Amino acid sequence: MTPPRVPVHRARRRLVQLAVVALLSAFAVPVLSASPASASGPLRTHAAARGKFIGFAAATSPLANEAAYRTIAQTEFSQITAENVMKWDTTESSDNNWNFSGADQIVAFAAANNQQVHGHTLVWHSQTPGWVQGLGATAMRSAMQDHISTLVGRYANNASVVSWDVVNEVFDENGGFRSSFWYNTLGQSFIADAFRYARAADPDARLCINDYNVEGINAKSTAMYNLVQSLRAQNVPVDCVGFQGHLATQYGFPSDLQQNMQRFAALGVQVRVTELDVRIVMPRTSAKDATQATYYSNVINACLAVTACAGVTIWGFTDKYSWVPDTFPSEGAALLYDANYQQKPAYTAVHNALDNGTTDTQAPSTPSNLAASGITSSSVNLSWTASTDNVAVTGYDILRAPGTSGGSFASVGTSTTASFSNTGLSANTSYRYQVRARDAAGNTSAVSNTVTVTTTGGTGDTQAPSTPSNLAASGTTSSSTNLTWTASTDNVAVTGYDILRAPGTSGGTFTQVGTSTTASFSNTGLSANTSYQYQVRARDAAGNVSAVSNTVTVTTTGGGTGGGCSVTATVQTSWNGGYVMQPITVTNTGTSAITSWTVTFTLPPNHTLVGQWNGVITTSGGTATAKNAPYNGNLAPGASTTFGFQVARPNGDGNTASGFTCTTP
Ligand code: XIL
Repeated sequence: MTPPRVPVHRARRRLVQLAVVALLSAFAVPVLSASPASASGPLRTHAAARGKFIGFAAATSPLANEAAYRTIAQTEFSQITAENVMKWDTTESSDNNWNFSGADQIVAFAAANNQQVHGHTLVWHSQTPGWVQGLGATAMRSAMQDHISTLVGRYANNASVVSWDVVNEVFDENGGFRSSFWYNTLGQSFIADAFRYARAADPDARLCINDYNVEGINAKSTAMYNLVQSLRAQNVPVDCVGFQGHLATQYGFPSDLQQNMQRFAALGVQVRVTELDVRIVMPRTSAKDATQATYYSNVINACLAVTACAGVTIWGFTDKYSWVPDTFPSEGAALLYDANYQQKPAYTAVHNALDNGTTDTQAPSTPSNLAASGITSSSVNLSWTASTDNVAVTGYDILRAPGTSGGSFASVGTSTTASFSNTGLSANTSYRYQVRARDAAGNTSAVSNTVTVTTTGGTGDTQAPSTPSNLAASGTTSSSTNLTWTASTDNVAVTGYDILRAPGTSGGTFTQVGTSTTASFSNTGLSANTSYQYQVRARDAAGNVSAVSNTVTVTTTGGGTGGGCSVTATVQTSWNGGYVMQPITVTNTGTSAITSWTVTFTLPPNHTLVGQWNGVITTSGGTATAKNAPYNGNLAPGASTTFGFQVARPNGDGNTASGFTCTTP
């Protein structure tokens, strides 16, 4: 069966999106780590021992910005293909206007880590700019020659760049030539020409033809076979055939992959799997993970069995960065690591296939130091010392038994990290907990020490606090807001409030952003010029929770005006009992003129403003708001103005005003 495949031209570029995701998750660090044992080196070590490369398609943004991504990229893989940045739309977006920055970044990374680079791709109907597509035959052929000689020529003497996809996806599903602008303008001769131009640009590079749905023996792969045979008979320099390998568990495995590779090998070409991924219909389950793992090991085993197979390139390695969810709706999780860089069963499958087919029979070490903290009337937080494993710990089972003795332990949850929060417990009740670790092969460790927990409460208090009211926001800046409300009452005592927030001005889901023991809360870290809705609810010691308060909607200042400002404050003189702050310099950091500015700052308790100049300062509690005077609100980009003030403070108090932030308008 031929898997349906979304046309590649419909696949959206993800780079911008990826850059944002990369920045947001720069803090993601793997929690579990494999403890490498002798039989368990990285993939590249085992691949090299079998005479193969193991590669991945690199996205440049995480490669530049995420340590976790880089570490896996350099440790596990011996080969890199640029996922996008060597394509025509990146390298030559308009005629003779070259951009090699992404390509150079990948080549430099590969050189630093002793990895080979496969150039992808020179002539393709997709991700090729409109200016090429609109050319007439003569101009199109010479644009192709120029593109190939410049791009291949740039890396011809670079030891890291060893091969190229010269033409990509030239067939349709029936084995005819794809009706692309290349074919429609130049006829099939563009294929032979492209290979000849590439050979001229780098006589040593290995030159490949690449396609999808050619893994098994079918009309399309047979057309490819016939073309390669006929080109080679005409001395067209086709050295290699790439099988993309975008597989999906719901369409079955192409069981004649090895046989198909073997028939191409018999033509005298090298073969390789160039873009392997195995997508599943979401969501992930352990059964789908296991099926996916067998697809991965089947591909590796096919390559291992065919001498002419040089290696396997996986189209990415983490589910955090994969083209699949954007291209195949409701499918995903196609790669070796999950979005948190945790190894999946697919990793173990590739690893074990490369490691001479050995099966992992070694269980993880026993989790230790299981401890409980944060015990409430209905929940407990468990943490323990992580286990290690010859391959990788893939998760923990959390077991619980009732009471302080007797009873049996049953699983109440799983965790991929060395901690777990168990909720929904009864008040004033005892429970015992244990954890055990698992690996991808299903080996489980012995159970940890037992920890006994007794929940709090049980006083018989079932009455919830009254609903907090009059929730209001004040002192809203570009990144924060202060919430206050009328305190709740309770038959015993209110122990605290949960502060809930939802995005936007209506709808959305409220989630808890903090707690407070008083009837106020300052929420920081907000985005400029953005709306948020807030609610609060009260709790008591027995875990009873009130209804939520009224909703207050807040829009932060700043942003969106084309202007922006910064402020620096200086203490000019200071004496026992007072101080002067000046100059306080406001600078327009934006790209357009501003007509007003607002500086907020905090006055310590018992500090009072006794004088001010060049600004209009008002105070509310400890928050002071300085707006421009009528004559110094206009600031061109980069221009500055100053203001100042004098404060009286208690004798012996050395504090001064702080926390200056500037917003526009
Ligand atoms: C894909 C990339 O992964 C995406 O980021 C991009 O938006 C579209 O192209 N066959 C190929 C690859 O030869 O170049 C494609 O890569 C996937 C299908």
